[in-house]
Amino acid sequence: MYGILLFLTFGSIIVPQHGANISASEFAVTTLTNEIFEWVKNGVMSQKFTNIIGDLAIPTEMQRIDWTKLSGSKASAFCIICKSLTKAIINLRRTGTPVEVIQQTVINLCTRLNLQTEPVCRGVVNLNTPVVLYIIDNDVTINEHDVCGLLLQDQMCVSSPLRYEWTININTEPPKLITKQPSQKSLKILQITDLHYDPLYEPGGNAGCDEPTCCRRGQNKTGGNTLKAGYWGDFNNCDVPWHAVVDALDHMKEQHQNIDLIYFTGDVIDHGVWETSREGNTKSLVKNFNKMKDIFGDTQIYPIVGNHEPNPVNLFAPNDIKDDQLSTRWLYQLLADLWINYGWLPESTRETILRGGYYTLSPQEGFRIIAINNNVCYVYNWWLIYKPNDPSGQLQWLENTLLKAENDNESVHILGHIPSGDSTCQHTWSREYRRIINRYSHIITAQFNGHTHNDEFNVFYDLNDKTKLINVAWNGGSITPYAYLNPNYKIYIADSNTYVVEDIETWMYNLTNANETPEKRPLWFNSYSFKNEYKLSDLSNESLNKIIVDMAKGSPILEVYHKNFFKHAAPELEKECDKPCLQSYVCRIVTTSSDNMNDCEYFKTINSST
Ligand SMILES: *[C@@H]1O[C@H](CO)[C@@H](O)[C@H](O)[C@H]1NC(C)=O
Ligand SMILES: *[C@@H]1O[C@H](CO)[C@@H](O)[C@H](O)[C@H]1NC(C)=O
Ligand SMILES: *[C@@H]1O[C@H](CO)[C@@H](O)[C@H](O)[C@H]1NC(C)=O
Ligand SMILES: *[C@@H]1O[C@H](CO)[C@@H](O)[C@H](O)[C@H]1NC(C)=O
Ligand SMILES: *[C@@H]1O[C@H](CO)[C@@H](O)[C@H](O)[C@H]1NC(C)=O
Ligand SMILES: [Zn+2]
Ligand SMILES: [Zn+2]
Repeated sequence: MYGILLFLTFGSIIVPQHGANISASEFAVTTLTNEIFEWVKNGVMSQKFTNIIGDLAIPTEMQRIDWTKLSGSKASAFCIICKSLTKAIINLRRTGTPVEVIQQTVINLCTRLNLQTEPVCRGVVNLNTPVVLYIIDNDVTINEHDVCGLLLQDQMCVSSPLRYEWTININTEPPKLITKQPSQKSLKILQITDLHYDPLYEPGGNAGCDEPTCCRRGQNKTGGNTLKAGYWGDFNNCDVPWHAVVDALDHMKEQHQNIDLIYFTGDVIDHGVWETSREGNTKSLVKNFNKMKDIFGDTQIYPIVGNHEPNPVNLFAPNDIKDDQLSTRWLYQLLADLWINYGWLPESTRETILRGGYYTLSPQEGFRIIAINNNVCYVYNWWLIYKPNDPSGQLQWLENTLLKAENDNESVHILGHIPSGDSTCQHTWSREYRRIINRYSHIITAQFNGHTHNDEFNVFYDLNDKTKLINVAWNGGSITPYAYLNPNYKIYIADSNTYVVEDIETWMYNLTNANETPEKRPLWFNSYSFKNEYKLSDLSNESLNKIIVDMAKGSPILEVYHKNFFKHAAPELEKECDKPCLQSYVCRIVTTSSDNMNDCEYFKTINSST
């Protein structure tokens, strides 16, 4: 849920046909870079440059496409653009061009190319300038291949830059198996995720704006569209008004007795990424976490950080960055203080939260929660370019923590915001994470993610046996309807001795319906139980594997999954989804390492062999 916007500092656009031929594309990069240079130097756009820009300008309806998933000539076009603009920015900086001139150049290109409106271009460029310049200035080796090899990693823009190659030391002894008997007593876990509270939300406001997020106070209402923001939220790229946040939390508390623990898997802040501030984010974080504490009282909440929490969005600095303006310290400090003061986390978690936003604790004997900050792997985290190797030592820490848990006979739940196989998670990080899961899958009884806002799950197959399912990551969906989704949360029933998840309830409401009667609270309902919905006797590896194989073979449960994926929201379900479209959801379930499509390919062969 990011769109084209986050690429702005380096620019991004669609160009008409260009071959993927290396010399031809290198030629195009050189031409464009030179044109930008000439333009900055002389202050006039050549006719040639004007023509190129005219050709490249994107239609407004394409502003929200996910450009990381393009293929063919569009992908190679993006690659050319990425390299040209990056090369131009780096060269402008290294030849002493004033900062304001560089900024104005990028804002100008962004606006002329119709990537976003002028205020959005300006906001994103201004917010990101300090970090981008710091990185260019402090590592003279950085070039356009490093940048585009990260951003466009799935489009083979550059052949795997060596900069991003590293490995984790993983214990090589065979897994130490422990057997635990189910207790017959259950543990009730509530997962809340992706609130995206918008302090500027205005019921009746403009739901059809030109910015990446709508329904906000101050947005142009005379633009000729008639879309009005709903009272409880809106399908059209809008986040959540305060009264809807409160309603959701109140409902959870009223509806469910005996919640044993709560996982909050990140993203409190709205999608107004061009106008965030440290003060604004702090206010929202305090307000939302205070409310959760208020409503749930002594029930323990185990929260993690989402990619929207920092300012600017997505940027998590390495901890040797001491400059207060660039550092992420303010955020880690704030979260550690809040979470520890509420009594949710013990003092022992402070050190790693301050180091990189991650922690571990054991709420009960035999049970460990490991909360990671995997937002560092997001390809929009520019700091990856500067320090790519295992940011803040987190994955090595994860390995060490799991080894210790294995020795202590503990069962583990891992909380992480971004699903590890997401195409926007940097390949090396994603691959190493999956290696760790492979070694410790016998003690990791479940993983919990958010970020995509969809009701979905991912399964891990053994790296040495494509047919052996060894782990599962459940995605909590989202409270925000952003974009074109109904709001939801989940209740997990786990065994209180083995910590294995036995069933899941997905609770949601119909947003269209809720907005018809603004004066009434939304009608939350239990949409389905996982076991019933997919006709399973349990949620064991075998059972999950069976439904995935069935889906790959075209069973109607794939359509059920597809409907749940969008939380029954009409805008998506009214679109046609044919067989290949449906099959892509199977591929998505089984892809847990962003650079490794083997599992996806394997399930395609299952489909075609029957
Ligand atoms: C690459 O493109 C150049 C320029 O268009 C052309 O001359 C050359 O034959 C192409 N090479 C290949 C291998 O397609
Ligand atoms: C609002 O949108 C209309 C139509 O697109 C435009 O003519 C007008 O200048 C905009 N007003 C502002 C304040 O941006
Ligand atoms: C873990 O379990 C094994 C086998 O049941 C036992 O021998 C060992 O003492 C246990 N270790 C700890 C730290 O409880
Ligand atoms: C799933 O597979 C792992 C790894 O092989 C195993 O340790 C675990 O017991 C299995 N869990 C279930 C619920 O089937
Ligand atoms: C949601 O509510 C609207 C309005 O009441 C209704 O038309 C629509 O069918 C409902 N959607 C679902 C999936 O029930
Ligand atoms: Zn989110
Ligand atoms: Zn997110």
